[in-house]
Amino acid sequence: MEKNNITNYITENKDRFLNELLDLLKIPSISADKKYQADVLRTAESIKDRLIEAGADKVEICGTKGFPVVYGEKIIDAKLPTVVVYGHYDVQPADPLNLWDSPPFEPVIKKTAIHPEGAIFARGACDDKGQMYMHVKAFEIMMKTNTLPCNVKFMIEGEEEVGSPSLGPWIIENKERLKGDIILISDTSIIANDIPSIDTGLRGLAYMEVEVTGPNRDLHSGVYGGAVANPINVLCKMIASCHDENKHITIPGFYDKVQELSTAERNEMAKAPFSLDEYKKDLAIDDVYGENNYSTIERTGIRPTLDVNGIWGGYTGEGAKTVLPSKAFAKISMRLVPNQDSHEISNLFQKYFESIAPKSVKVKVTPHHGGEPVVVSTESAGYRSASKAMEETYGKKPVPTRGGGSIPIVALFKKELGLDSILFGFGLDSDALHSPNEHYGLFNYYKGIETIPLFYKYFTELNK
Ligand code: BES
Ligand code: MN
Ligand code: MN
Repeated sequence: MEKNNITNYITENKDRFLNELLDLLKIPSISADKKYQADVLRTAESIKDRLIEAGADKVEICGTKGFPVVYGEKIIDAKLPTVVVYGHYDVQPADPLNLWDSPPFEPVIKKTAIHPEGAIFARGACDDKGQMYMHVKAFEIMMKTNTLPCNVKFMIEGEEEVGSPSLGPWIIENKERLKGDIILISDTSIIANDIPSIDTGLRGLAYMEVEVTGPNRDLHSGVYGGAVANPINVLCKMIASCHDENKHITIPGFYDKVQELSTAERNEMAKAPFSLDEYKKDLAIDDVYGENNYSTIERTGIRPTLDVNGIWGGYTGEGAKTVLPSKAFAKISMRLVPNQDSHEISNLFQKYFESIAPKSVKVKVTPHHGGEPVVVSTESAGYRSASKAMEETYGKKPVPTRGGGSIPIVALFKKELGLDSILFGFGLDSDALHSPNEHYGLFNYYKGIETIPLFYKYFTELNK
């Protein structure tokens, strides 16, 4: 009876649910780029309006040092459990623009091999406007069909893609207002549309920038070349010496706190469906590459990494210019696993990088944002509720998986609010998050909207 109400409501409002998301996707809410400041703020305004329409109370745009947090709540009975929904309305920059088949902020719906029902192509379609908005619509459905079984609080931020610098202080100031029983987040992926899964972990992050300085000015590479250190050559060698021949990271102490999984746990992980051939085919690579003695799933799920995200210096314009540059730069990130600590790892990196630099150059290491790794227990009421909800709508029990990405604020939810998070993602890794032609399947959008109310139902039942 209840279920029919919900399904009917979705069917009757399908087009509007889609059009509202498309409107949201038209606003370029790029948090990293100052040019888009007004657009980011306009997005917060829209979400506020949508939450009010859906039936939330005390909806407020909460100022922070950076972009605001949109808050709203519906308290039906203080004795009932409270689900705190987290999501982000900011998006990554859209560059390189020339690689998009359609403009990133003019959403279009196209069919693909993986999304035969169609997918919405736009920056933020999957990460995270599409996934965040499923929660607003699921809430509307529960309100309008009188099926909201517990209390709900929304906390939608605008700085996730730049490391959530203002949300940490905001949650500390708002501990009282954020009292609840569980954090619910849709900002991760499932294995495939016919293989539901739930992430039971996120990696942490330590993001560094390095600057290597050689001579005090750019030099003629013929006049000085061979006698003066070239900072680009040196930087490349330093980066190369961060891994050994087994693709282990060489920073002393880097693995000291890494939690090793037991053979039983690794065997359990290996049961998750995964095709190496399809993985390679999707990426057009002839082979994978990573730490010896670990599978691809383990390399992204339970092992830490060190990767250069960008490297620059010297002459990169057209044609050839003979120059021995004064400076070279790189952005280097490390993904962390339990129980590594981002501050400790940043320090170890800095010490190591300074120690391997030859005397002929100066090295400056600057840490950017970071975040701690998280694990979610599959025994918890939250996980079991999510699993039951997905099993009902997908007709299959979801597989627990370890996600490779990071949502740094999740560890703070635990530390500051004492709340566990459920990573209730519905996207696909192949949805091109952060890349050109990001998209989100219509199947995934509606499936999420349909599944979320069941989480509320089971979570309330388990907590009564
Ligand atoms: N939603 C992603 C994280 C994610 C994606 C987790 C897919 C698991 C599967 C999030 O928006 C993101 O991109 N996080 C950043 C970290 C942030 C500090 C910029 C990341 O993982 O690089
Ligand atoms: Mn995200
Ligand atoms: Mn992201």
